[in-house]
Amino acid sequence: MDNPLIAAALAVRANAFAPFSKFQVGAALEDMDGRIHTGCNVENATYGLTICAERVAVFKAISEGVRAFRRVAVAADTDVLTPPCGACRQILWEFCGDVEIILVNPRGKTESYQLKELFPKPFDVSFL
Ligand code: THU
Repeated sequence: MDNPLIAAALAVRANAFAPFSKFQVGAALEDMDGRIHTGCNVENATYGLTICAERVAVFKAISEGVRAFRRVAVAADTDVLTPPCGACRQILWEFCGDVEIILVNPRGKTESYQLKELFPKPFDVSFL
């Protein structure tokens, strides 16, 4: 895979801790300096404390002081490409704004969306 962001999302997927669902997801964010921040889903025996790959990637990057992002790639092994869940769309909106979201599977299928297309009427700090 010659796109480093997509390659990173596919690679980090292998680290998913998903013993309950067996559904492995990888996410990679590109920041404004071109650096890549990755995350995988981390499940929990309570199920409800599970955190998605996208949020792990965002929170890792935020915790390292990064505040601006250009692109996000999400990798899962589905033929109909897996989009971010509702909770992740909210978090992505608040930290990344209307970024490009690239969905990908291990067979090289990709689709690209702007986050606004997936999350058209977001609640955010502008309402507070
Ligand atoms: N999951 C993600 O990591 N990202 C998504 O966008 C969809 C769902 C994870 C959560 C859980 O570990 C597993 O996939 C099944 O829902």
